[in-house]
Amino acid sequence: MCGIVGYIGSRQAGPLLVEGLERLSYRGYDSAGIAVMDQAQKIGVCKTKGKVERLKEMVDKQPLAGKIGIGHTRWATHGEPSDQNAHPHTDVQGEIAVVHNGIIENHIQLRQYLEQYGEVFVSQTDTEVIAHLLHHLYDGNMLHTLQKAIGMLEGSYALVVLCSREPDALYCVRNDNPLVMGFCNGEGFAASDVTAMLSHTRNVLFLKDKEMAVLSRTGVKLFDVYGNEIEQHFVRVDWNLSDAQKGGYPHYMLKEIFEQPEALQKTIASRNVQGDFSWFPFSQENAGKISKITIAACGTAYHAAVMGKYFIEELAHIPVNAEIASEYRYRHLIFDENELFIAVSQSGETADTLAALRRAKQKGISVLAICNAVGSSIAREAGKSNTLYTYAGPEIAVASTKAYLTQAVLMLMIAVTLGQMRGRLDTQRAHQLRESLEQLPQKAEETLGAFDQIQRLCDKLYQKKHVFFIGREKDWALSMEAALKLKEVSYIFSEAYAAGELKHGPLALLEDGQLVVAVLTQKRLAEKTINNLQEALSRGAKVVAVCTKSVLQQLAELNTERIVIPDMDEISAVLLAAIPLQMFAYCMAVARGCDVDQPRNLAKSVTVE
Ligand code: G6P
Repeated sequence: MCGIVGYIGSRQAGPLLVEGLERLSYRGYDSAGIAVMDQAQKIGVCKTKGKVERLKEMVDKQPLAGKIGIGHTRWATHGEPSDQNAHPHTDVQGEIAVVHNGIIENHIQLRQYLEQYGEVFVSQTDTEVIAHLLHHLYDGNMLHTLQKAIGMLEGSYALVVLCSREPDALYCVRNDNPLVMGFCNGEGFAASDVTAMLSHTRNVLFLKDKEMAVLSRTGVKLFDVYGNEIEQHFVRVDWNLSDAQKGGYPHYMLKEIFEQPEALQKTIASRNVQGDFSWFPFSQENAGKISKITIAACGTAYHAAVMGKYFIEELAHIPVNAEIASEYRYRHLIFDENELFIAVSQSGETADTLAALRRAKQKGISVLAICNAVGSSIAREAGKSNTLYTYAGPEIAVASTKAYLTQAVLMLMIAVTLGQMRGRLDTQRAHQLRESLEQLPQKAEETLGAFDQIQRLCDKLYQKKHVFFIGREKDWALSMEAALKLKEVSYIFSEAYAAGELKHGPLALLEDGQLVVAVLTQKRLAEKTINNLQEALSRGAKVVAVCTKSVLQQLAELNTERIVIPDMDEISAVLLAAIPLQMFAYCMAVARGCDVDQPRNLAKSVTVE
């Protein structure tokens, strides 16, 4: 989704802004632009529909001189992708330039109001009203002006403002949209995502809602919504630049798939699931009182939530609802005072998940957040002691892989912990599960060995137009994620079905050669799914089975392709099966020539509703 960068310092801003935008391009966008102010205090703007490479060509030909500037990658919401609608937007005189992430909900009213005062609009965007509003309200002090403006703006925004009358500062503010400041050796950086500034500094400050920041060559000053200067809250980010680069892999997605053993290791090793539960935010007494759990999330994180439902219900015996956050935030809900709400989000910035979390908090129920991005909005909303981080490291590919697996494993760890706290798991079973968790990184490493086989398989299958993924229970939860992964990156229509549902409709679609991928990691359910595979095979389907070694025997003479994963405790084997299915999506997409890391129409972090 949209990306913001800002720079003030002693170097030429143009190339640094373009470099920052390149680093943000993984988020998905359809146009890009920069505005730079020169020594004569003139703001030059260069913007274009299309990729950052095109912008780079344009600024290489006609550089914008100056040591202060702002940049943006836009993912169209209001108005088509076009040069005109690309950011930065300026007032008529070109004295104020703004870049904006989010949506200004009252932009129509503001536009009508500003037109009465002679402001002339040239784009269809909601953002343009901000530039004109700032011009209209400008009183010689941009900080005051910004303060007045945010009193009139409704909606979500991360804003960085460049003003030719105040050439030594960038003015920043956020509301429900991430914005990070960085400062190092006389250079200030602003960005919507910390990866844009990692090559310059790891000392960063995450703005809170309605906080305003003035970024200059001497540092960052922070102000509250009333204009009072407030204390700064810099944090150090552990991620480094090489974590956020491809490191020899052709795509981020592949790199991130292969980073999973390490990511699992970090997430698992940081918490003890037997004996010492000090990492877990709830005491034994409070854990004992939980009457039900709701887990809300979007996209891939929602699929980790569904997996979590199975783990928690089985091991801790608490009823769990996995909810799509965009539904949860508006639908009629029956709350329980002893309910626990869990939000799951890689970025910690997904607007619907954040809103769902706020709704739960308003009802006064206990909340917990599972996030990957430190200091993100969801982590802050839940509070430090009620946030559990997945230590997956930066995930750059739009399609989530390592974040999913660490979310799912954290769900399993929560289930094992709650199970013991509530007296549902005896010591021996808890011990087995702990051992199984400890083995997971190594088993994941072994599972990666299937890559060549999957690549060869996909070279034969990549022209398929539709794919069904089937499985039962946890294998069904994983099937949903596998289907999403495949459609996201390869654009193949794919659908997940609970295996037993196949005969209740979808079989009508089965014809010769239809590809069906079955997930079989649970011995006790394998026979049932195999019966469903027989139904599909007898109608001419082509079947790929992703199964554990022990289920392999049950497949016997069945005419299927087989991708075999190592045996593990039955409850955790499904986590391993995620890896070949991610590789399957990746290889199908590569074989079809798709832009794997930046699939069309998708954004990494969806910060608007
Ligand atoms: C977008 C991304 C998905 C992601 C979802 C939720 O749709 O394309 O990959 O799963 O958002 O993101 P979150 O950051 O909340 O996990």
